[in-house]
Amino acid sequence: MASNSGAAGHRVVLFPFPYHGHLSPMLRLAAALHARGLAITVMHAEHHAPDPADHPADYRFVPLPADVAAGLLSSEDVARLLMEVDAILAVPFKDRLAALLAEPDAGGVCCVIADVQWYSALAAARKLGVPTLGLMTSSAASFRTFMAYPTLIDKGYLPVQEGHKDDPVDELPPFRVRDLQRIDKSILAEFDSLLERNVAEARRSSGLILNTFDVIRQDLSIPVFAIGPLNTLSPPVKSSLPQDRGCLNWLDTQEPGSVLYVSFGSFVPIDTDEFMELAWGLANSKRPFIWVVRRGLVRGFESGELPDELEEKIRDRGRIVYWAPQEEVLVHPAICAFVTHNGWNSTVEAMSRGVPMICRPLIGDQQGTARYVCNVWRVGMEVEVETQLEWGKLHLAIEKLMGDNEGEEVRERMKYLTNMADKGVSEGGSSHTSFVNLVEFILSFTC
Ligand code: UDX
Repeated sequence: MASNSGAAGHRVVLFPFPYHGHLSPMLRLAAALHARGLAITVMHAEHHAPDPADHPADYRFVPLPADVAAGLLSSEDVARLLMEVDAILAVPFKDRLAALLAEPDAGGVCCVIADVQWYSALAAARKLGVPTLGLMTSSAASFRTFMAYPTLIDKGYLPVQEGHKDDPVDELPPFRVRDLQRIDKSILAEFDSLLERNVAEARRSSGLILNTFDVIRQDLSIPVFAIGPLNTLSPPVKSSLPQDRGCLNWLDTQEPGSVLYVSFGSFVPIDTDEFMELAWGLANSKRPFIWVVRRGLVRGFESGELPDELEEKIRDRGRIVYWAPQEEVLVHPAICAFVTHNGWNSTVEAMSRGVPMICRPLIGDQQGTARYVCNVWRVGMEVEVETQLEWGKLHLAIEKLMGDNEGEEVRERMKYLTNMADKGVSEGGSSHTSFVNLVEFILSFTC
């Protein structure tokens, strides 16, 4: 992307949330802004700290002198986790930003772009007189759910009542009740209050940036920049986990359009039964596959050893890797489909690389994303399960997606959608125009 000479002296401070799925889109946004001539400062937690060696030499990295206990980061009490992480980093962020603003040669901080999860940081930056932009790292539909949460509780959709999971949510089409963020009743009020803070601080910001080509402008009175798919704007961001690049060589030996890629993102754990059913589903599909089994993927399953009978069935057919170069895998001609939890980054990467999905959403926004993928854009098939996965259902979804009729239609629609995404980020496309507008908007702030 061309550099913008008018950007000289404009410094943007970016503050990513310390998870790979949040860090990666923020750093890709940083790279795209840098390519337009903006100066970049990244403030970050120690957890998942980015390595300056992986970024342009003129980036400035500011580690915050506070860290989040590993135990907290692996907690499954989402509301508590997000609020505590926000609280731990709030004061260090404010202090470091104030110190940065006081530096005589800081180069003019013109705005702060923070993950919308950092509601305290967004408020703190504005208190210091710096304009803010929120980055929503998940889908636009997910932000719409955030905005509707109090109404969803008032109207009785939440907590989810047995027997009502398939009811339509009239206020949020095309969602059914089961597509809403599934939060345990005991923490619903806390979660609601967290989302209210996220939305309030995003609304008080000067604008909202979305990693999508979908829009929600009508519901917000601030500018919205739908600039996605972000993964097409800059190269992949290195994760702190070492990648198994050998799987790319192995892919070179496979037939075009034959290999399943299976990954459940960077963070969400599954239980042993689910893991075993997945393994049997893959074994019985009789298709080659690459399966990412990262540390912590399976609760209480440190050894990662499969029963002999299963091991024998998949030994020659599949590659189990600890961490894959996912975007390079997805773009490889040998890949035929992606078995995914529908984390937003994985979904966007699959759509922009034309890989149809087999959806097994696990938590949070993932069920709602799967709803869009399977029923609105119709570029994937959901493994229909209420609770526990059964290998037969996975097998069925794989067969359907790989077969004629329905499968063929899904693959055709995926080509169409990928084409739309390409057009969106090309010169004159909607995402490209939004990005150009975003850069101009940032340049309009006085440093
Ligand atoms: C989290 C939430 O779980 C998700 O619901 C939300 O939408 C974003 O934040 P995560 O579970 O990590 O994200 O999933 P996802 O959003 O798909 O991000 C995973 C990222 O890790 C992707 O960019 C993917 O390319 C990368 N990845 C994953 C690898 O590079 N290698 C792997 O082996 C696995």
